[in-house]
Amino acid sequence: MATMTYKGLEVLFSRQQIAERVAEMGAQITHDLKGEKLVMIGVLKGAAPFLADLSRAIEVDATFDFVATTSYGKGLRSSGAVKLIKDLDHSIEGKNVLVVEDILDTGLTLSYLRKLFLQQHPKSLRIATLLDKPSRRIEKIDADYVGFSIPNLFVIGYGMDYAERYRNLRTSVSCRRRAGVGKTGRPKEPGAG
Ligand code: PRP
Repeated sequence: MATMTYKGLEVLFSRQQIAERVAEMGAQITHDLKGEKLVMIGVLKGAAPFLADLSRAIEVDATFDFVATTSYGKGLRSSGAVKLIKDLDHSIEGKNVLVVEDILDTGLTLSYLRKLFLQQHPKSLRIATLLDKPSRRIEKIDADYVGFSIPNLFVIGYGMDYAERYRNLRTSVSCRRRAGVGKTGRPKEPGAG
């Protein structure tokens, strides 16, 4: 994994690296779904930039839908309390589904969503995630398409936030260096040095 410093952050993956990997993933998904129709389901909000780019790298007849989930505070995630706050607009019964996530972390969100979506009996259900943190997994779940597998780092940019900000960083996917972690264990303001 190439790293370099950028305003106090480490750039994990450059714009070009992300673009190249997204193109590869799109080509693979195109191959796997050749001649089929596809419903791409973005998990708001973090997946929005990845879905926008990935969808344009896929040469398959595709439609979009979106869901949003919440957990009862990040600190309580291990409770497994994931809640749906925006449901699908349309039924996915008999459809080929691709769930699109920015990051697969504990797996609680995608395990919850997979169970929920399978109740509708889609024709197929696949998962694409830009980032995968396998070391953090609580629920056993794997993505069919993984952009990059990463260690346990706090990541922002390209959809991922710190207190809802920085989702629109387009140059990179970045994280705080260890030295930047504040007393509370939370990262300090990105770019603060
Ligand atoms: C992030 C990410 C995934 C989820 C992954 O969403 O977009 O949906 O966490 O974590 P998990 O594997 O531990 O469940 P978040 O809840 O931060 O909402 P956001 O997409 O609006 O940032």
